[in-house]
Amino acid sequence: MLKYLMTAGEKTAVPITPLRKAEWGRWLEQQSGPLKQWVKSTGFEAAPGSVRLVAGSNGALERVLIGLDDDSSLWDWAGLPGRLPEGTYIIQGDLDPDSEQQAALGWALGTYSFEQYREKEGTTATLVWPKGSDRAQVEREAEATFLVRDLINTPASDMGPEQLGLAAMRLAKEHRANCHILVGDGLLKANYPAIHAVGRASSREPRLIDLQWGDGNARKLTLAGKGVCFDTGGLDLKSAANMRVMKKDMGGAAHVLGLAGMIMSAGLPVRLRVLIPAVENSVSGNALRPLDVVSTRKGLTVEIGNTDAEGRVVLADALAEATGDEPELIVDFATLTGAARVALGPELPALYSNDDALAEALLRHGAAVNDPLWRLPLWKPYRKQLESKVAKLNNVSMSPYAGSITAALFLEEFVGSVPWLHLDLMGWNTETRPGRPEGGEAQGMRAVFALLAERFQ
Ligand code: BES
Ligand code: MN
Ligand code: ZN
Repeated sequence: MLKYLMTAGEKTAVPITPLRKAEWGRWLEQQSGPLKQWVKSTGFEAAPGSVRLVAGSNGALERVLIGLDDDSSLWDWAGLPGRLPEGTYIIQGDLDPDSEQQAALGWALGTYSFEQYREKEGTTATLVWPKGSDRAQVEREAEATFLVRDLINTPASDMGPEQLGLAAMRLAKEHRANCHILVGDGLLKANYPAIHAVGRASSREPRLIDLQWGDGNARKLTLAGKGVCFDTGGLDLKSAANMRVMKKDMGGAAHVLGLAGMIMSAGLPVRLRVLIPAVENSVSGNALRPLDVVSTRKGLTVEIGNTDAEGRVVLADALAEATGDEPELIVDFATLTGAARVALGPELPALYSNDDALAEALLRHGAAVNDPLWRLPLWKPYRKQLESKVAKLNNVSMSPYAGSITAALFLEEFVGSVPWLHLDLMGWNTETRPGRPEGGEAQGMRAVFALLAERFQ
């Protein structure tokens, strides 16, 4: 349920009139003298992002004018709930259904705040659901985004491997899915040695979370998410500045849980499986060392060139498991490399795929739902940089270049030829923008859902 969107109240709601530059002059001509004067004397010209409150003859707030860009998106609505006086509002005028959808979603996302450790500041305005919007879809998208943000924003002290498991259990219960969690030495017995090796140094035991939902005979879709609840770097310890955001290193796991919630609530006809290796990359006497060799579920041995390249090592076992029942598609989300951020910045997740048509379809959906991605290549000539003299593979390349690509090539070794999408993402807003407060963020999740909803129907 979204707290600041409501179905009733049309009669008393204050109208919001969205105005675009092109129609602005004509609109103004049709207005009454006092309104025209107010608008002119306060300098409102429907510039994108501008807001003008208009009082009625009794002094009460009578209407709100807002300026919109020609190619306006959900984010142009996201600042309003925090900026308008408390109360109920309704959009007036003729927006097309897609713009109404964007308005409702933008409004919903703009009401988010992380309230686990302190109360929310300021007030929040309420919107009457726009008539043309698909409510269920907006609710799904907003709830999944809030879940992702909450999980990432929760500090590692309250979001360790166990708590991440509990979050998966809670989601499973909500949707009548099954959730099985392998813990600690159980990982060794069941042959997930790489997950155990990375997670064993933490006093909080490593886990493999395995959620399953849907008709066992339906088309198979498997999601995998990097669940490093805190990444110190291990013995190759990170610097203070680099470590300071590493509570977000379970962002991939948060994304696959959010996405799974969307898939299950939409009832997509799939057999869904979600695999999350949940670990903490810690330092202690039994920590993994540089030059150690780790075995993996697939049987490939991996030399640890750098203990800070831990995400790909835990995902190796999760992806090998994912291929086991030959799904039609594997999608993984991971805060995998700093190099992807160097290449594309914090806002654009890097997309990799072994299937061109699939990748192109995802880029198209991302653009359509304002959740953009950018594709980078699985450039085979760089594969040799992962060669090791003592094991089948090294977990890092010694070259300073193409770090996101070599990480993706490492993962590809474990997915083989199953159609696969890999998102190397930030999962974090580095600065506050309307509707996108600094902190945890869902990136690429709505895009992937749109693709899946089209493919699996
Ligand atoms: N979790 C980090 C990657 C990361 C860093 C994501 C900053 C987003 C922002 C990952 O485990 C890591 O430490 N990667 C190393 C790999 C290197 C040692 C080859 C990196 O990118 O520096
Ligand atoms: Mn790391
Ligand atoms: Zn990491």
